[in-house]
Amino acid sequence: MSMRIVPGKWSDKTEREPSPDTIVRPMKIEDIDAIITIERASFPTPWSPHAFTTELRDNEYARYYCLEVNGRIIGYMGLWFILEEGHITNIAIAPEYRGAGWGEFLLRTVMDKMAAEGMERMTLEVRVSNMVAQKVYERVGFVKMGVRKKYYMDNQEDALIMWLDLE
Ligand SMILES: CC(C)(COP(=O)(O)OP(=O)(O)OC[C@H]1O[C@@H](n2cnc3c(N)ncnc32)[C@H](O)[C@@H]1OP(=O)(O)O)[C@@H](O)C(=O)NCCC(=O)NCCS
Repeated sequence: MSMRIVPGKWSDKTEREPSPDTIVRPMKIEDIDAIITIERASFPTPWSPHAFTTELRDNEYARYYCLEVNGRIIGYMGLWFILEEGHITNIAIAPEYRGAGWGEFLLRTVMDKMAAEGMERMTLEVRVSNMVAQKVYERVGFVKMGVRKKYYMDNQEDALIMWLDLE
């Protein structure tokens, strides 16, 4: 497979590979306790268990995935799949597993699944101060396309809007 990194395009570079011990699978209601622990350790205004339950049970556009390593959920990611676009709602890796490539692996794996289902583009918002997340997003091919002023209600922080074309 050729290696190609084009800004704004999905690159096929990856450092982690799927293995029997590493699974990305759809999130289930029974996973929510584990997810909430990571969620609370990751965001200043975490979602409630009810918010996740509603997404899983009632939102036909929602797709949520868990990253499970050696039987333990260490991260998750969600998005809304509307027409041919994906809008990422959240992504988090448990604090003790960060900085080891898992976030990038989870993103690339979900991008792969979504492309196979016909998704053409993905978008997300990220805090202007969240340099770690921006770095991961840029590495998988997202580009900054705009700003939503005072998007985050807790501290009035601006959001960067990023987009990626899935080919
Ligand atoms: C953003 C997040 C999902 C990335 O997951 P991750 O597994 O840490 O990401 P990766 O290991 O693939 O990449 C992180 C990069 O940032 C670098 N980095 C710098 N400081 C870091 C820190 N304090 N923690 C983690 N990574 C850090 C890493 O070295 C790595 O870059 P490199 O590969 O060039 O060395 C994760 O950090 C997280 O859950 N953060 C809290 C929730 C959040 O901000 N979500 C995004 C909301 S838009």
